[in-house]
Amino acid sequence: MIDAPYQSDHRPAFADVTFGNILRTDPYLQNPTGNAITVTWLTNTPAYSWVEYGTDTADLTMARTLVDGQAMAGNELNKIRLNGLTPGQKYYYRIHSREILFYGGYEKIFGGTAVSPFHSFTLPAPGDKDFTAVIFNDLHQYLGTFDALLKVIREKGVNYDFAVFNGDCIDDPASQKQAVATLSYYTSGIGAEDIPVFFLRGNHEIRNAYSIGLRELFDYVGDKTYGAFSWGDTRFVMLDCGEDKPDDHWVYYGLNDFEGLRKDQVCFLQTELSSKAFKKAGKRVLIHHIPIYGETDRYNPCRELWDPLLKKAPFAVSINAHTHRFAYHPANTAGNGFPVVVGGGFKPEGATVMVLQRKGDAMTLTVYDTQGNEKLKLDL
Ligand SMILES: [Fe+2]
Ligand SMILES: [Fe+2]
Repeated sequence: MIDAPYQSDHRPAFADVTFGNILRTDPYLQNPTGNAITVTWLTNTPAYSWVEYGTDTADLTMARTLVDGQAMAGNELNKIRLNGLTPGQKYYYRIHSREILFYGGYEKIFGGTAVSPFHSFTLPAPGDKDFTAVIFNDLHQYLGTFDALLKVIREKGVNYDFAVFNGDCIDDPASQKQAVATLSYYTSGIGAEDIPVFFLRGNHEIRNAYSIGLRELFDYVGDKTYGAFSWGDTRFVMLDCGEDKPDDHWVYYGLNDFEGLRKDQVCFLQTELSSKAFKKAGKRVLIHHIPIYGETDRYNPCRELWDPLLKKAPFAVSINAHTHRFAYHPANTAGNGFPVVVGGGFKPEGATVMVLQRKGDAMTLTVYDTQGNEKLKLDL
């Protein structure tokens, strides 16, 4: 489903013809779970959009979004799910957007069709443990910092299978225009046409006029801002700490209920930690934006709620953000039962990028600064 404001009844029936400029963004891949993946992109005009995909570019299947029997059309934001994929198989896909100039009850006028080049992706085969992931945090739309960290990854020859943005990367989104400009800079930079990307919410994604609308650009695992997924036999658990001040703080004007969201995650954690997928995983990684162990906010409600569950959980590492100061807390140094690594901030001199790598039974986490210096390398 596409959320508001794309379903506005107030859209003009006629749109300007925009020759050759139908695609607003490149496609980006999300939510590679359940033998499926979501292809997301935006157009500049109302369009009818679909994806062609397959293991052979000469034998393609068409996917589109159906809403109660109707093909989604006349919209600008596309989130098209490719289902029934075979893990370990390389898939090729390309997107199509056909401009709709007039969408009437008995007549439809189409304009040109934009078609992307072929892109490809591979979902991890169940028996394949190996992967490399890159993790960014707190970029706060400092695109130069992002570029510097990307350069480091390239110079180090890191070939990653997926990327994670661990919050405060599209901070204080005021409008869709602003958010899409930043998001597409990130997704193009990391090559999300070909590798899936996970966006976790930081406290700054929760602020400003487009903070609720921002959700429409994402396809969360399980359709929630917290969840879990497996990549090979590594289990990732993602939590959402919400805002960094109490719900009744005046700046929120009574519009937040993160107390409820955090409590929901107690139930989620109970279920997840006793699940087969978690128990039989070879490695387990926890990711959330605000740290709950070590140096963090004075207001730390997540620790009180989640620590009773987390302290017994066999995570190899917890990857955090938010403080804008790189930190490493070895296990059992701050009430933490597992190592905690906190990424740096947005200023080039303090920013970091993490590379999480699994090779066979071994897993490493390496943290680089913008100069390519290795700030930390952990065997997990
Ligand atoms: Fe931040
Ligand atoms: Fe933050």
